[in-house]
Amino acid sequence: MRSRSTVSDAMRHYLELQQDLGGDEVIFDAPVDVRAALRASDPAPRAETVAPVAPVAPVAPRSGIGLSAQVARATAAGRPAAAVAAAATEAAPDRPAAAARQGPPPIPGPGLTIVSPRSAEMPAWASLDEIAAIVRECRKCPLCETRTHAVPGEGNPSARLMVVGEGPGESEDLSGRPFVGRAGDLLNKMLEAIAVPRAEAFIANVVKCRPPKNRVPLPDERQACLPYLGRQVALVQPKVLLALGGTAAEAMLGIKKSLGALRLQVHSWNGIPLIVTYHPAALLRNPDWKRPAWDDLRIVRQLLDRDT
Ligand code: URA
Repeated sequence: MRSRSTVSDAMRHYLELQQDLGGDEVIFDAPVDVRAALRASDPAPRAETVAPVAPVAPVAPRSGIGLSAQVARATAAGRPAAAVAAAATEAAPDRPAAAARQGPPPIPGPGLTIVSPRSAEMPAWASLDEIAAIVRECRKCPLCETRTHAVPGEGNPSARLMVVGEGPGESEDLSGRPFVGRAGDLLNKMLEAIAVPRAEAFIANVVKCRPPKNRVPLPDERQACLPYLGRQVALVQPKVLLALGGTAAEAMLGIKKSLGALRLQVHSWNGIPLIVTYHPAALLRNPDWKRPAWDDLRIVRQLLDRDT
């Protein structure tokens, strides 16, 4: 039996995750400060360990009633929010998986079928470690001149989901690891929301070295780097690929189209289903895109759950 504080910690975490992602569980009938409601009904005051939850603007209800809506309604009806939350979150750690599987958009139809790069351009490096070692010494394009560290990628070598970003930013260049800055924090939450903890995924980028001032990597730089990604994918053999942002999608699919034109299709990249969604950095700038991104993520979840 979990203690009340463990349950409300789990619920706080869950609500914060949902709020960050714009998921259905943050649909309120009326504005409510869940955190204040919880605090008011918690008999044992304790030190706060979580960041304040920003007020959530009321929006029109969509399908289903999320946990936070239950809390909002219960609070409005005078029932203690924590009791409602505790009852509803007995299985709190499983809620992201359940929410990701709830009312998902249908799996979209097929998109582009791409074989890239050609195998002649892709040496048969034997392991991810070998690729990482070669990437760290790579001098195939001018990005090597300005990098602090190359960022080969990291994660589970047998990952079922492989995530591909554009290229390292400053934090990644300094650490040699992908997605460790603010966008990385959001990416971790996005993955957690579809029950794929970061450590279970493999995370890489189209270009492995930071473009100066975070500019978009040039076509020649992407081309020079693509064999590394191609071989990483061939070695990991994920069930699903997720391209983050227009640049990653364009580079992988070899086509210049808007992100909107590339989303909501199941492309095939070297025989592996590829979904395109917004880059987390773009989601930080434009929170309105979180809801469509949540749809993309739930499509990924369904593809992962598929038997084939
Ligand atoms: N943005 C990316 O595309 N990749 C990273 O690794 C970090 C930020």
